Amino acid sequence: MTAHPKSLIPVVPPRLIQDIFTEEENERLFHVLKTKGPWRLIAAIYFKSAEELLAVSSRGPDSEGAKPTLDDFLSLAFRGFFGNNGLSYHDEIHEVFYSHKLLNLVKDMHGAKYGAPYLFQFNIQGPSGGYDPGHFDGRSWRGLDPTNMPAWLGSVMAKSGLFDAWEVKAGQVISYYYRSDIDGGFTYWPNGPDQAPERFAAPFWNSGIVTDNQHMYHRGEACGPRDKRELPSGTTLQSVLQPDGGSGWNVVDGDRVLANYAENEMRFLFHYSAHVFSDMADLKRYYDHTDDLTCDQALGMLIDDLRRQRIPFEMPTDPMSDPAFIATLTRAYAVSPATYHPQAPLDIRQKRAA
Ligand SMILES: [Fe+2]
Repeated sequence: MTAHPKSLIPVVPPRLIQDIFTEEENERLFHVLKTKGPWRLIAAIYFKSAEELLAVSSRGPDSEGAKPTLDDFLSLAFRGFFGNNGLSYHDEIHEVFYSHKLLNLVKDMHGAKYGAPYLFQFNIQGPSGGYDPGHFDGRSWRGLDPTNMPAWLGSVMAKSGLFDAWEVKAGQVISYYYRSDIDGGFTYWPNGPDQAPERFAAPFWNSGIVTDNQHMYHRGEACGPRDKRELPSGTTLQSVLQPDGGSGWNVVDGDRVLANYAENEMRFLFHYSAHVFSDMADLKRYYDHTDDLTCDQALGMLIDDLRRQRIPFEMPTDPMSDPAFIATLTRAYAVSPATYHPQAPLDIRQKRAA
């Protein structure tokens, strides 16, 4: 493992909390889900190619089997945003995004003096296997964060441990809504991915965790009825999720409804993230941009590190989207959990017929 050990262990282990939002807040949040869609697949929001996605997932590109395509990673995981970069996108959830309670949970986790809400997003997961091998959430450095850089670069930077001096401290409050006790839990590696994982088991309703998911390997587990977990035939990167007019949800591709699921077959989560600062100097360094990283600087440091490690590569003309270069960096800083929880195994995807 080449990653810096400190980069792989959370500031504190995740803490389970109950009754995260008030009833009225939950109504406002679910109202956005029900009225502001349709919602895109997470894979479609972040990734242009299989190599980019592989840089974020734990396993490097398969050097022996067939070259993976993005299709191999499709799963019914949809996402939308309540807000991002400190801005609320929907009037009705303004007060929720700027909630003192949520911010204090993150500040207290770090013992930080100052903080600001950063990101508030939601996932809606249809019935699916537990294919996620584990991941970090997107990390922020002064000057570079998930809003201005590709996800693959952020993942490689996090695993490399080369950029910790620029890191912006952050934490998450994640609320889950999944009444079933069929799988649907949260596996996490609080002592690093080479140690044994732990898990919080479903059911959840308006309960969840205060966590440092930017430093801790974790995974959402399989969820939904086991006999409905196969990817609906015809699912593509362009497939979207929208309410079916009742309480259920349709997976739609173009003008075709590919699948319909009842509300209790879905797993919802609301993911709030805040940046925090230990003191005024730390805060001003971030907001005054006196010590920012740039993409060029980050790529230069990664290239220097590849050379230092004597890892051969061809200098790409466009390093931000060169598949071979992305694959080289992915292998150089690969991290994989050593074991999975016996009650939440890693599922192996069956290749779809062409
Ligand atoms: Fe995550």
